[in-house]
Amino acid sequence: MEKQKDNLMEKIISLCKRRGFVFPGSEIYGGLANSWDYGPLGVELKNNIKQLWWKRFVHMRDDMVGIDAALIMNPKVWEASGHVSTFSDPLVECKKCHHRFRADKIDAKECPDCGGELTAAKHFNLMLKTFLGPVEDKDSIVYFRPETAQAMFVDFKNVLETSRKKLPFGIAQIGKAFRNEITPGNFIFRTREFEQMEIEYFIYEKDWQESFDYWRKEMLSWMFNGLGLKRERIRETEVLDDELAHYSKRTIDFDYKFPFGEEELYGLAYRTDFDLKNHYKEEPYLDTETNEKSYPHVIEPTFGVDRSVLAVLCDAYTEEEERIVLKLKPALAPYKVAVFPLLKNKPELVAKAREIYNELKKDFVVAWDDRGNIGKRYYSQDEIGTLACITVDFETLEDNTVTIRDRDTMKQERVNISDLKRYISVLLSK
Ligand code: GAP
Repeated sequence: MEKQKDNLMEKIISLCKRRGFVFPGSEIYGGLANSWDYGPLGVELKNNIKQLWWKRFVHMRDDMVGIDAALIMNPKVWEASGHVSTFSDPLVECKKCHHRFRADKIDAKECPDCGGELTAAKHFNLMLKTFLGPVEDKDSIVYFRPETAQAMFVDFKNVLETSRKKLPFGIAQIGKAFRNEITPGNFIFRTREFEQMEIEYFIYEKDWQESFDYWRKEMLSWMFNGLGLKRERIRETEVLDDELAHYSKRTIDFDYKFPFGEEELYGLAYRTDFDLKNHYKEEPYLDTETNEKSYPHVIEPTFGVDRSVLAVLCDAYTEEEERIVLKLKPALAPYKVAVFPLLKNKPELVAKAREIYNELKKDFVVAWDDRGNIGKRYYSQDEIGTLACITVDFETLEDNTVTIRDRDTMKQERVNISDLKRYISVLLSK
């Protein structure tokens, strides 16, 4: 069973590399400590996830606005947020092979790699440091943000003033975050540079339980209806009091059954008024109706982008008797359709197929393939999740119809060229 699971992860990683979803970063120089690059198909999949999220949680709501803040913030932000003092993992080192591990992630008291004796655990701050400006001294030390969240708190006042929002309302952001993880691994699951989609939802204290429950349901709906993940693969875990982050009063982890085990996909936290109180010491929020001053409380739904991509890939990867299919939700598929001329060496077929391809490209992301035989082209498109394949043949030249073959049912039908856009729109609405 374990072997099969490993095998599945290997197959997904191999597909990602072979088809241009995800490559090892800096590969020609031997790679760089678990860094990964998204290739031509990976960037489409990742962008589709981000756009779907933004549409759902920002554009379709009246109580949400977005920001896109700088990655490097004033170091005082990280003092006020508690990251300088508490954002650390317990690190142990093997005295024999000098491999390092997170003490909370290993069961035995000896080195998992060589059985050697381990040092006592010491706290290792996870923030990635650099120097800003030409002088490398302690005054020029800055940190790459370890979460996008803090910018939403720091910009709270500016957003409030410019958007004229009132409680309850939220600020959303998508962007990179950096953590000097002790043990990155499991492909794009845990890396030192990753992307988050976060919401900081500002409320009155009295409403926190109701808002927490509301966002719990919204997050589940995103996973099942937005990304199309299988319900039985998601498990909610209540984080125990002694494991809560320094700012949280309640947290739920949404774990996904990855091939390497059940691991955190997303989190939902009640951050109390910890953040705004620390950043706006003398300036509480003024309720203009009641004239009362208070620090808003925060419910934080947080979503890892890379973990979303990985869960979607694991969920969609399907082996059938004669093919591998990525059964991606239509909105997520990198290519919506592929266009083929039946024969590459018949200029009239190629010209007609090009015409259709160029027209469809105005509205959809479309693939072109004229290599090998039709069967091979279908196989190749199934493997990357393309919803349908359109073949231009000799009949097309007579009656302006093409063959459309569906990814999931593998059924073929003749469709008039003038109906193609409508046909694809129907596919996308599923
Ligand atoms: N603002 C709250 C926060 O950052 P977190 O649980 O530390 O909470 C949020 O991170 C999400 O970011 C996680 O649920 C996960 O999806 C993603 N994430 C965290 N660390 C990651 C890493 N090293 N690599 C990839 N994704 C990561």
